[in-house]
Amino acid sequence: MKEKVALITGSTRGIGKAIALMMANMGFKIIINGASTNKLSGDYKSELEDIYGELFEEFFLFIQADISKAEDRSKIVKKIKDKYNRIDVLVNNAGIAPPIRKDILEASVESFEKLIKINLQGPYFLTRDIANWMITLKDEILNYQPYIVNISSVSSFASSPDRGEYCISKAGITMMTKLYAHRLAEFDIPVFEIQPGIIKTGMTEPVQEKYTNLIKEGITPLKQWGLPKDVAKAVKAIVSGLMPYSTGDIIHIDGGFHLKRF
Ligand SMILES: NC(=O)c1ccc[n+]([C@@H]2O[C@H](COP(=O)([O-])OP(=O)(O)OC[C@H]3O[C@@H](n4cnc5c(N)ncnc54)[C@H](OP(=O)(O)O)[C@@H]3O)[C@@H](O)[C@H]2O)c1
Repeated sequence: MKEKVALITGSTRGIGKAIALMMANMGFKIIINGASTNKLSGDYKSELEDIYGELFEEFFLFIQADISKAEDRSKIVKKIKDKYNRIDVLVNNAGIAPPIRKDILEASVESFEKLIKINLQGPYFLTRDIANWMITLKDEILNYQPYIVNISSVSSFASSPDRGEYCISKAGITMMTKLYAHRLAEFDIPVFEIQPGIIKTGMTEPVQEKYTNLIKEGITPLKQWGLPKDVAKAVKAIVSGLMPYSTGDIIHIDGGFHLKRF
């Protein structure tokens, strides 16, 4: 594992942070990314120092970059090339919820464009760039086995008319997963999608009470909140190679929310 490198977008906190720590524990060199800050919190840094010990500086790279911007995506690729000259795993995790939930009949163009750029356009073109690089690495590295993992949401299929732009961006990630799984199969680069349900992070904090009540009422067959580490464990299963004859699959981390019940 020692040489393997993983980029997890949006990994300064929440689900992305849990994935980053999981992969660090697996021995990956990790690239942590966020748009709004240029350094990690002290606690996060200590957690990584505990995992990597004296290899900390070598095994970890922080890149402040807004994935919705083409120049920032180029910066990500360049910095990884400069430091590691390889990439084994891309986890497209960065995403935002609409700052204001608004009925679809009063939908705002600004919010729509912002969500699509961050949640869909960013990952779509970052994947294009990283996938092209992975294809070239196939010829350069012996036993090279890359993976791409997209974090979508149950909102890919469940309608919430008060945040239509979020649902559309996530439904786009579901199609993006199919497209890249199809296109990259000839290069043996598997592409997976994880659809989280209700996960306890900063994103769901403003609606914590509402969701706690919905869970109590049975919106999820398993009556509990999901945790960021539940999503990280699914990523671990994928990048450990436990699904060698699969690509384009959706993994539900949602307490059974996706089940149609009778
Ligand atoms: N929490 C849930 O219940 C849930 C359910 C289903 C799906 N998801 C999806 O899971 C992913 C992670 O969600 P979360 O709950 O962990 O959210 P979160 O706690 O709000 O964390 C979001 C992360 O994304 C980064 N980010 C936001 N905009 C970015 C940008 N333009 N460029 C680069 N990084 C950016 C944030 O860093 P900065 O703020 O520094 O930019 C942060 O590190 C999202 O795609 C979300 O849609 C979450």
